[in-house]
This record gives sequence, structure tokens and C-alpha cells, in this order.
Amino acid sequence: MKKIIALLLSAIMVMALFAGCAGKPADDNKGGADGDKGTIGVCIYKFDDAFMTTYRNNLEEILKSKGYKVSVVDGNNDQNKQNEQIDTFITQGVKALIINPVMTSAADSIIDKVKNANIPTVLINREPTAEQMSAYDKLVYVGCDAAQSGTFQGELILDTPNKGDINGDGKVSYIMIQGDPENIDAQLRTEYSVKALKDAGIEVEELDLQRGDWDRNKGQEIAQNDLAKFGDQIEVVFCNNDDMAIGALQSIQAAGRTVNKDIYLVGVDALDAALNEVEQGNMTGTVLNDAKGQATKAVECMEELLGGKTYASGEQSVYVDYVKVTPDNVKDFK
Ligand code: BGC
Repeated sequence: MKKIIALLLSAIMVMALFAGCAGKPADDNKGGADGDKGTIGVCIYKFDDAFMTTYRNNLEEILKSKGYKVSVVDGNNDQNKQNEQIDTFITQGVKALIINPVMTSAADSIIDKVKNANIPTVLINREPTAEQMSAYDKLVYVGCDAAQSGTFQGELILDTPNKGDINGDGKVSYIMIQGDPENIDAQLRTEYSVKALKDAGIEVEELDLQRGDWDRNKGQEIAQNDLAKFGDQIEVVFCNNDDMAIGALQSIQAAGRTVNKDIYLVGVDALDAALNEVEQGNMTGTVLNDAKGQATKAVECMEELLGGKTYASGEQSVYVDYVKVTPDNVKDFK
């Protein structure tokens, strides 16, 4: 009987020990000497974004594989909501933050918050200005040079047999389906894709430019309306990302047009769906927006910040290269 009571008592003590650990998450977030590296708070502008879904899955996997606890939250494309999420992470005492801002224009207030809380922070995907970032030296941006992706899109068109001038009238007539124009990726891809053509001495004609907000359905609708309005005049469909390009492709096919024969179509990201379409000749090309490479770099920079590294003003943007994807090299990306 005494043995049973002793066993029961020790079982109760073990259970109390576990309950105690689970009951103090705020302290645990700081990380302890027992091998627990603490919690990293990850804010994503919205989960319902094809590219950011791949990106956040990569981030979560890499952080967990390195022994961090990870808390990933959905900003639902609402900056106020994201601000509250950042406040909550700060109150919980997370070790570091990785933030994909909802609005680049909100960077000042985000930077203010993390600076006051003295939390090492990596911003991703939506790049603030160098001046905004210079306010806090434990802050770094990891992303890509958006101008490069635009230039590559233009070059994909320049690499076609007729350099985009399908009807031979001496100019390239295009429609531009833009991401959220508040975002520098949307602004620079729009500008530099066309600039690449102009720099090569090609005359261009913009038939339409519309915001599709990175969204497949909007890409499909815009392309559908433009195809109905401009018909064969459209030689090139530039999309700021692949999700909108996949949408546009549905409309192109529904209108009886054939990519690479009577119309060209380019995107950015190299989503799996787009790689399949490039392989089958249904997209002229895309540009790899390296989600895994950026996630890896973001975690690397976060660990450097945790190790005490600070960033000088003007050196707070770390870029991962974009890569052109065509039917010739598409296999390398699958
Ligand atoms: C990607 C888009 C994505 C956007 C989100 C861009 O870099 O190309 O697909 O929707 O980031 O901010």
C-alpha cells in the first residue's frame, strides 16, 4: 500500500512539473538554458496569397528545424490588425520578429514599436525606404531587387523570335496587370519590364494598366475585359506575379488565343502552377522569386541580430537574386 501511495505521489509531482512549464509561456519565449531557443513571432500580411504561402511554409520549416518555437499570424491584409499582432508578440516577449508588412507606408510605426521594445526584427517581402529603416539598427530587410524582376520580364519578351511584335507593326502593344500599387514590387516590375523593351530600342504601346492586387481572379477578369476590348491588338500580357498570370491564362485560352503563337504572357514568382504552364508552353516565361532562398536568408539575418549584430544605415537591405525561367531551364526549378 505504501508503495502505491509513493508511486501515486511521484506521478502527481511529475504532472505538476509539466503543468508548470506549460503555464508560463511568456518567460519561455525568451528561451532558456535547457536548449529551448525561444519563440519567433512571424507576421504575414495575409495567408491568402499564393507566393506568401510558399514563403511562410519555408520560414516555419527552417525556424523549427533550428529549434525555435514559431508563432505565425495572419494579418488578413489589415494593417490595424497586424499592429495589434505585433503588440501582442511584444507583450509575450518573443525573441525576435519576422514581419511581412501589410502596408509599406506603415513601416515607420512598425519600426517604432519594435525599436521601443528592443526586439531584433527582420522585415520581409515589402521593402521600406532606407531612411525609414535607419531609425533602428537591429532591423534588416530581406527581399529581392524588384527592378531586376521587371527587367527580366522585359528580357523574356525580347528573347522571343519577334521581340514581342507579333503583328509586325513596329511596336509592342501590351496590357499590364499590376499588383497592389502601394507595393514597391508592383511599382518597379511595372516600370522596369517596359523599360527593358524601350532600352532595347523598341517602341511600346500601353493598351491598359489595371491593378489586380496580386490576385488570380482579378487577373482573370482584367484579361477577359481587355481581350474583349482590344482583341488581337494585345501582343503581350505583363503580370506582376504568377497568380494573376494564371488567371490571365484562363481568359486567354477562353478567348481562343494561343500563348507563344499569337500572344505572349509573363509573370513573376515561379509558383508550381506557373512552372507547369511554362513547361507546356502556355506561359512565355516567369521569374523565380526565391521563397526558400529568402526564408533562409531571413533566418540567417535574424540569428545574426540575435548574436548582437547591428546594421548601419544604408546597409539594411539584403537581396536574393531573381532568376529568369523559360522552357529551356524550367526543369531546374521543379
Ligand atoms: C510576389 C507576389 C506577392 C507579393 C506579396 C510579391 O513579391 O511576387 O506574388 O503577392 O509579393 O507582397
